[in-house]
Amino acid sequence: MQVRRLPGTDLDLSVVGFGAWAVGGDAWGDDVTEERSIAAVHAALDAGITWFDTAPIYGWGRSEELLRKALGPRLQDVIVATKVGVVRGPDGHAHSHLTPQTLRADLEGSLRRLGVDTIDLLQIHWPCEHDTPLEQTLEALAQLREEGRFRYLGVCNYGAEALDRAAEIGGIVSLQTGYSLLRRELEGPLRDTAVRHGLGILAYEPLCRGLLSGRFTHVPSFPETDLRSRDDRFKGARFHHAQRLTADLSKVARRIGVPTAAVAIGWVAAQPGITAVIAGAKGPEQVQQNAQAARLVGQQKLWDVVGRIAAVHGGTPR
Ligand SMILES: NC(=O)c1ccc[n+]([C@@H]2O[C@H](COP(=O)([O-])OP(=O)(O)OC[C@H]3O[C@@H](n4cnc5c(N)ncnc54)[C@H](OP(=O)(O)O)[C@@H]3O)[C@@H](O)[C@H]2O)c1
Repeated sequence: MQVRRLPGTDLDLSVVGFGAWAVGGDAWGDDVTEERSIAAVHAALDAGITWFDTAPIYGWGRSEELLRKALGPRLQDVIVATKVGVVRGPDGHAHSHLTPQTLRADLEGSLRRLGVDTIDLLQIHWPCEHDTPLEQTLEALAQLREEGRFRYLGVCNYGAEALDRAAEIGGIVSLQTGYSLLRRELEGPLRDTAVRHGLGILAYEPLCRGLLSGRFTHVPSFPETDLRSRDDRFKGARFHHAQRLTADLSKVARRIGVPTAAVAIGWVAAQPGITAVIAGAKGPEQVQQNAQAARLVGQQKLWDVVGRIAAVHGGTPR
């Protein structure tokens, strides 16, 4: 498995990382079991995946606990990236709260659930939805880093302007953002800003929540417990656009003898500025398929073909 150094750190990330949202068990339907999730984590280790992305809100702590249980002593050998700053409001919904008190309490919770003294990469989960100035948030986090509670700081879901401000204030090493053949807002000022500041880019949702795996040949129906039951990308014109693009991707994948998911993930990893891709998975068979993306990354001719396919299908209908 190819690894890349996260710029400005000593963290070597496998180009395909493991996304531990689904194994949190509360947002991705009814087929997440502890046994299958643990097998998925073990398959990731076997495939040479060196890092795991999680968050306190993934299963409200369950994803972090699952990683601790599944990794056991191997947790010391891998990189765990978690997030900070999203709390459950009185309405039961998640909100980004970035006051010094919330940050400290949230981080302490992650350290406890993961059973570690320090987090390798801590990421602000969303930009602030309340009134805490960015300077105050970054100062509070600098203090927590000083105390050894985490090593490196990143941000997630920031636009170009907010990212620029955060990088100017200083102390961040990475941007985590959504990016796939079906989601390309990164290309443009956001990527330029990240690259200009020397930040690593960690791309999430490379399969567009599974759409780009080639598995969905008809409009799917998800249970209420699966967030995709409320995702417009799985309905109407947007689904059919994705399905046509994926069908062509599958033809290419078949020709070279790899799973469609590996081509979709490999394309993301091969794009400029990307340090690593976070591929979500529920089971070992998915991890084994997704990890195959790593050996495709250097195949520029393949990406030229895939780029042409994406261009033929055009942007996602709104
Ligand atoms: N920072 C943020 O705000 C943020 C936001 C989103 C995600 N993330 C991170 O990024 C990770 C990845 O994103 P994501 O999990 O949302 O989306 P994703 O990686 O695009 O899709 C993951 C889902 O696709 C399906 N899948 C995975 N591999 C497959 C394969 N080989 N064949 C068929 N289906 C496959 C699985 O669901 P089914 O089997 O049910 O179809 C899996 O749960 C997350 O786990 C999380 O760590 C971060």
